[in-house]
Amino acid sequence: MQFTLSVFVISALALETLGGTWTIGDTYVGQDFLNSWSFEAEADPTGGRVTYVDQTTALNDNLTYVSSDTLIMRVDDTTVLSSSDGGRNSVRIKSNTAYDYHVVVIDVRHMPEGCATWPAFWETNDGNWPAGGEVDIVSVTPSMIEGVNSVSPNLVSLHVGSTCSMPSSRDESGTPQSNDCDVNTDGNSGCGVQNPTTNSFGPDFNSAGGGWYTMERTSSEVKVWFWSRTDGSVPSDVSSGASTVNTDNWGTPAAYFPNTSCDLSSVFSSNNIIFDITLCGDWAGQSSVYSSAGCSGTCVDYVNANPGGFSNAYWDVASVHVYTTETSSS
Ligand SMILES: *[C@@H]1O[C@H](CO)[C@@H](O)[C@H](O)[C@H]1NC(C)=O
Ligand SMILES: *[C@@H]1O[C@H](CO)[C@@H](O)[C@H](O)[C@H]1NC(C)=O
Repeated sequence: MQFTLSVFVISALALETLGGTWTIGDTYVGQDFLNSWSFEAEADPTGGRVTYVDQTTALNDNLTYVSSDTLIMRVDDTTVLSSSDGGRNSVRIKSNTAYDYHVVVIDVRHMPEGCATWPAFWETNDGNWPAGGEVDIVSVTPSMIEGVNSVSPNLVSLHVGSTCSMPSSRDESGTPQSNDCDVNTDGNSGCGVQNPTTNSFGPDFNSAGGGWYTMERTSSEVKVWFWSRTDGSVPSDVSSGASTVNTDNWGTPAAYFPNTSCDLSSVFSSNNIIFDITLCGDWAGQSSVYSSAGCSGTCVDYVNANPGGFSNAYWDVASVHVYTTETSSS
């Protein structure tokens, strides 16, 4: 009995190590985000000039709105703040379910843009950071000015609470910015990979009608892919929200994090999925980062005085699909 059990466990683990075919676990559309995700009305851990509101406030103030096929989450774009006020009202939501090995597919029509904005779609184990690790799938620089082309591509990164590095040469279309994922040794900048195309975020992403981000996490690798809405090469299982997906057909990922010199199976916990919109904070608010984007004054003063600057600081999410069962591997 014991022997049989061990054989079963070993073959199950072997299946988990490779990409392949995955079956749907959870689908989130519209109202599902109100029922199955939590509004995190907490202080922003990145020190942003925001006040994250609870679900009741978000719905009352229309900072969150759902329909049968849409989730909108936005920043307050009407209130002028004084320096003694709290931050600008914003939204941060987290899936109630935490996921271990899985594939996530998000269909996004619009992401927040504008000076001071720092939107993110990412996964972490909140209660266990950094020990549980962090994967930033969409993490956008503040360098977005409507109508001006001074934008940088999306950055995908891992943040790990222990020794973890990536090989300098690997099979990905993006450009590595750092190969050291350990939050303790690199000022927590993580091992980031820049997407190859500017339509991966901000105004260019939005003007194309958004697109799809996908991530596959197994015991031996993390891969992230992106297709713009207008990219005819998007796999049909991604664009249709199919009940099974085959990551072997998705081509070279934008970012590839293998376990060559990082034990991915131990550095990541089960992670919750998070959408947020912060303003300024540790990254977007750095004066050199903020001003090099062509944004005026200081980040906090801009946020306080310019509610109209946030009219495009919203997420429009069509769906999130999470595939949790690997049914066959390559
Ligand atoms: C709330 O936001 C949605 C989405 O932007 C919009 O369609 C709707 O008209 C807004 N409702 C109100 C009462 O402003
Ligand atoms: C990478 O993952 C595979 C599959 O789980 C495992 O056999 C291998 O030991 C791992 N390599 C490292 C360096 O952790």
